[in-house]
Amino acid sequence: MRLILLSVVVLLLLVEWGTANRMLSRRTKRELASPLHVGGIRDPYGSYCQRRGGCCPGRDDLCTVPYLDTICYCDLFCNRTVSDCCPDFWGHCMGIPPPFIGACERNGNRFLTGQTYKENCNLCTCGAGGRWECEQNACLIEPDVIHAVNRGNYGWKAANYSQFYGLTLDEGIRYRLGTQRPSSIIMNMNEIQMNMDPQNDRLPLHFNSAEKWPGKIHEPLDQGNCAASWAFSTAAVASDRISIQSMGHMTPQLSPQNLISCDTRNQGGCAGGRIDGAWWYLRRRGVVTEDCYPYAPPQQTPAEVARCMMQSRSVGRGKRQATQRCPNTHTYQNDIYQSTPPYRLSSNEKEIMKEIMDNGPVQAIMDVHEDFFVYKSGIYKHTDVSFAKAPHYRKHGTHSVRIIGWGEDRDFNGSPQKYWIAANSWGKNWGEKGYFRIARGENECEIEAFVIGVWGRITMEDMHNHQHHHRRRHI
Ligand SMILES: *[C@@H]1O[C@H](CO)[C@@H](O)[C@H](O)[C@H]1NC(C)=O
Ligand SMILES: *[C@@H]1O[C@H](CO)[C@@H](O)[C@H](O)[C@H]1NC(C)=O
Repeated sequence: MRLILLSVVVLLLLVEWGTANRMLSRRTKRELASPLHVGGIRDPYGSYCQRRGGCCPGRDDLCTVPYLDTICYCDLFCNRTVSDCCPDFWGHCMGIPPPFIGACERNGNRFLTGQTYKENCNLCTCGAGGRWECEQNACLIEPDVIHAVNRGNYGWKAANYSQFYGLTLDEGIRYRLGTQRPSSIIMNMNEIQMNMDPQNDRLPLHFNSAEKWPGKIHEPLDQGNCAASWAFSTAAVASDRISIQSMGHMTPQLSPQNLISCDTRNQGGCAGGRIDGAWWYLRRRGVVTEDCYPYAPPQQTPAEVARCMMQSRSVGRGKRQATQRCPNTHTYQNDIYQSTPPYRLSSNEKEIMKEIMDNGPVQAIMDVHEDFFVYKSGIYKHTDVSFAKAPHYRKHGTHSVRIIGWGEDRDFNGSPQKYWIAANSWGKNWGEKGYFRIARGENECEIEAFVIGVWGRITMEDMHNHQHHHRRRHI
């Protein structure tokens, strides 16, 4: 009975529509501030015409209901434009399914137009016509890169890292590296002359600074989403060198944050910096320990650099003293550590090896390519797994790291593969406990192109004082 009645109403409305249509043939669609349904119908289950108490025949510009921040129509005229009918107009007034509903499907769930979800590093939006429209960024973690590396005989294995998942490749390069390529003046810096005696300077097949100098080689840190490898690699090499040179009387872990926040002249903090600037600061101003000036990883990207909380003043003979207390209020040891000017090594593999064996870890600049982020173990070489993809999947940026040793392995068909052992600054869950091995002797990723050594500025007095501190702590 009700069904018949409804049909009659609809029929009547349609008859009315016909006459109205003829009469108003010169009228065009209503002027709307914004068409309601161009992007599909939002709120398709809402009750509007029904709540209003019915529909209007023909054209009735007053036949409206509030809808979101505007109004919608329940008159038949709205069907001409489709764009300003209330969402329940077709169902309630005409008993037919709506002409389109922008609903998308995912894992058996319905999503409405404008709703989004994140697929790795790409935002997907439910578009009109019920189709997901996703951004097409290259992601830092691309599952097919991981699979391709692990399937192939590249000599190294790849893994997924949750700290990188969801970032784009561009973000990885922007926030996880952070060393500017030195200017040509610096790049042309004279290399030190090393007189290698092939007879007496026998280099072992394997060498690891951590074995020669136990307790003096510092563990890799994590720079987080802060592009300050310039500060991390400099602080790490200086820490190791001072510990070795002082024969363990001092084993400071120097503070990258001190450099990031205070070495700000021509430096970009978490937006990248230059290692020559970092060495200048270590030499002329000096830095305190990590314990005294702890690293504060940025909470948002791009990172804001906190203001400098440590200054030093000269106390004669080139030595300096802190003028402020440690930012970490639990520490009173605000000793300033300094270096001498850094020196550049030649790109000769053997000379770099000899330097590491004699004096300790060195700093190296390298190119980081898209596949390096997923490195897990083995001897890294940049692969061709992204070569078949669109160009925006292949990118590289400049990074700096600390080389602590070398070795040699046999690859899958038995030929020897020489490598460097280097510390990264992406935390200890990345790579081989924070370290990586990379092909040696072939300037892989330019790692042998610009290698730096340095001395700490240490006097006999320092050794004595620090020994004193050390003893006193144990009493
Ligand atoms: C109303 O719109 C629907 C869907 O676009 C269409 O099928 C129908 O013919 C229209 N009715 C009238 C009377 O124009
Ligand atoms: C990688 O890790 C993330 C987060 O830990 C996870 O959501 C994702 O499914 C993983 N991807 C692959 C390919 O394993």
